[in-house]
Amino acid sequence: MMVHKKLQAWIEEVATMCQPDQIYWCDGSQEENDRLFQEMVNKGQAIRLNPEKRPGSYLFRSHPSDVARVEDRTFIASGKKEDAGPTNNWVDPVALKKTMTTLFTGSMKGRTMYVIPFSMGPIGSPISKIGVELTDSPYVVVNMRIMTRIGTAVLETLGADGEFVKCLHSVGVPLKDGETDAAWPCAPIEEKYISHFPDQRTIWSYGSGYGGNALLGKKCFALRIASVQARDEGWMAEHMLILSITDPQGNKKYVTGAFPSATGKTNLAMHIPSLPGWKVETVGDDIAWMKFGEDGRLRAINPEAGFFGVAPGTSLESNYNAMRSIEKNTIFTNVALTDDGDVWWEGIGYDAPEHLIDWKGNDWTAADSNALAAHPNARFTAPAGQCPVIAPEWEDPAGVPVDAILVGGRRPNTIPLIHESFDWDHGVFMGSTLSSEITAATISNDIGQVRYDPFAMLPFIGYNVCDYLQHWIDIGAQPEADKLPKIFYVNWFRKDESGKWLWPGYGDNSRVLKWVIERVSGQGAAVKTPIGYMPSPDAIDTDGLDISAAEMKALLYVDKKLWLQNVDLIKAYYAGFGDRLPQSLRLQLEALEQRLTAL
Ligand code: PEP
Ligand code: MN
Ligand code: NA
Repeated sequence: MMVHKKLQAWIEEVATMCQPDQIYWCDGSQEENDRLFQEMVNKGQAIRLNPEKRPGSYLFRSHPSDVARVEDRTFIASGKKEDAGPTNNWVDPVALKKTMTTLFTGSMKGRTMYVIPFSMGPIGSPISKIGVELTDSPYVVVNMRIMTRIGTAVLETLGADGEFVKCLHSVGVPLKDGETDAAWPCAPIEEKYISHFPDQRTIWSYGSGYGGNALLGKKCFALRIASVQARDEGWMAEHMLILSITDPQGNKKYVTGAFPSATGKTNLAMHIPSLPGWKVETVGDDIAWMKFGEDGRLRAINPEAGFFGVAPGTSLESNYNAMRSIEKNTIFTNVALTDDGDVWWEGIGYDAPEHLIDWKGNDWTAADSNALAAHPNARFTAPAGQCPVIAPEWEDPAGVPVDAILVGGRRPNTIPLIHESFDWDHGVFMGSTLSSEITAATISNDIGQVRYDPFAMLPFIGYNVCDYLQHWIDIGAQPEADKLPKIFYVNWFRKDESGKWLWPGYGDNSRVLKWVIERVSGQGAAVKTPIGYMPSPDAIDTDGLDISAAEMKALLYVDKKLWLQNVDLIKAYYAGFGDRLPQSLRLQLEALEQRLTAL
């Protein structure tokens, strides 16, 4: 194979700093995968699940301090502070490299450094990009093998001088001679650094083994670094699901959707429509890369190859297709273990057996345990190809043409079930005002509070949020604006006065998607309101659904008083962005206020 001089030089530089005992190039083979699992089983770091219940599947238990992404320890080290913007933790890149070089020096002693060449997106697609992760964690290797395409084929595509994103990761626990390894090695919280150097297309992650902190292809590359590449190259890297929806006549449309963590994005991506004759297929459940094709249409790929989903709450009822996706070849992290070698979690859809081993490795009995058996952010890592409704075209290098973009928050009031933007810029305004409650996916003290989360990208924008929103505006400034996807704002989480959800969600969300598809196709009855186009009273198909006209009215009600309060909230939120906020968004907000006042 051709030698990639820059890659070789970088590996040597990192090896000199981290001082691993050996360097191992991952080929991505099944044999290699089996061997790594066996080594981790031997060391007590992994448990092989009962092959009759979960073939090819393993359980890992993290250190109790290393269970989620750590936003406080996540840094965007751009050359200039204002390029990281008001919403990211900025550190001077030179100072940060100095601090982290001290940490990385000798950090891989007693360990193997794995070289993982990986492709985000189908190998060779014009939208795909290559990264190389250097890590001392075999857990990362086996997860990256599911979540991305890794190994020899990627190196061949990279050739002798292809571009790649440099991803360096260490759990931060060097081993002395003969010292036994921890079950889940990681560094204390104040030593964890999830650092991005966007100008250098480089990621340095230290001290955590957890998914979003350590599987660097995912949030770090495919969102934070890729968002910067996308800005520079005129495309989009978004925190979005991609699905196809086919009507009973066989017409197929593609929808992407931005939803904050833990608002049912994975569930929506693979839901089974309650509407007879309709079909939903999954292209991706977390990230979309979108680029204009030669036909002038925005085309999306899923840069990932697997699902890294939250286990608790996942059941045959809430997400049948996810449950089927995780029947085999799946890595479970921080779920409970049953006595017969299978997994269990809260919300799996059936009662816990009498006895379990909980996510901390302790005995747990249904009779006398109040503690959760699985961590609320326990995860499964499963190959996307195992999803029964994976779209046959999910790996099409050309991507799929996007007809509609959904943005969705989690708001108990004010925001109706659905409204459609007047035009692209108004849609960008809607996306900029997405808001939801803080969830267990992040370590935070504010669980339950509402926070603004523009396009569900707040923790993932690799640069200034204002420039990001301007990039969205710029993307819409196309000569062929009629080919752009339409933008819709959904809120599945509206409640009535007694605090009860008004909308059933799950498979019934297809009823809302049906209206979206009708609107995209130039049909679908709508009324113009101050906040956007909305379905006229009977436009949402509620056939066979147990919902009253009054409830539908409440779901779609635009309350002038609450909306004027909402405008004030948005003003305060925008004020935090300072002068760099795009002028067009300021104008959108003013226009909304005027339309509401005139109501
Ligand atoms: C993660 O925490 O690694 C992750 C994928 O998060 P989320 O579920 O928020 O996308
Ligand atoms: Mn996500
Ligand atoms: Na998370």
